[in-house]
Amino acid sequence: MDNPTRLQYLEAMGIDVWIPRSSAPIVSKLIAASELATEHVIREPELHNISPTGWADVENEVAGCTKCDLCKTRTQTVFGTGNKTADWMIIGEAPGQHEDEQGKPFVGKAGLLLTEMLRAVGLERDDVFITNILKCRPLGNRDPKPEEAESCSAYLQQQRILVKPKIILAVGRISAQTLLNTDAPLAKLRGKVHELDGTPLVVVYHPAYLLRSLLEKRKAWQDLLLAVRTVNDS
Ligand code: URA
Repeated sequence: MDNPTRLQYLEAMGIDVWIPRSSAPIVSKLIAASELATEHVIREPELHNISPTGWADVENEVAGCTKCDLCKTRTQTVFGTGNKTADWMIIGEAPGQHEDEQGKPFVGKAGLLLTEMLRAVGLERDDVFITNILKCRPLGNRDPKPEEAESCSAYLQQQRILVKPKIILAVGRISAQTLLNTDAPLAKLRGKVHELDGTPLVVVYHPAYLLRSLLEKRKAWQDLLLAVRTVNDS
């Protein structure tokens, strides 16, 4: 992405464009200066009885999955991309049309903003592991059905076990509610450090939402900084 476009995305997030983006020490200073919300920890149930398996096994299982009807309409599954031993695991909702076509998560407009959000805290996409609650696209960009999320949950659990991230970033309401097993609104879930099977979890607004909502952009930036601080403190 060229620099002017990147700056537009950063401005859309409410990030001052003169902030150097790739420097961790600067990020640390920003965290100290930012108004970060009080943290609460919500304890979550232990992993269900999933026997650990290797990456190739999970990838093959996902590629051939027919557990729900989404397999009938997908172009391909979207397993996840990035660093398989990353400190950061980014979990979105479900593939959209572009992701379904390319087999990669977050490659549309929202994906570009997510990439810039990560860059803003000094992370490239290859530094993190990015995946979704669902590995197949629900047609018409509808919300995932609970039974679809349930069918896919073992794959995500296996990915979490294999990556062993220091932080999980739950991107958007569906991801946050599914991972934390709650129907609390996103506004209540953001701004805190939750815990999922011993891994800190921070909730951020979905970039697709941020592209439409000018009001929430500053909060998204604060949530990212909370995630950085959590990793730095771990
Ligand atoms: N939105 C998501 O939640 N995930 C994607 O992969 C793309 C868009």
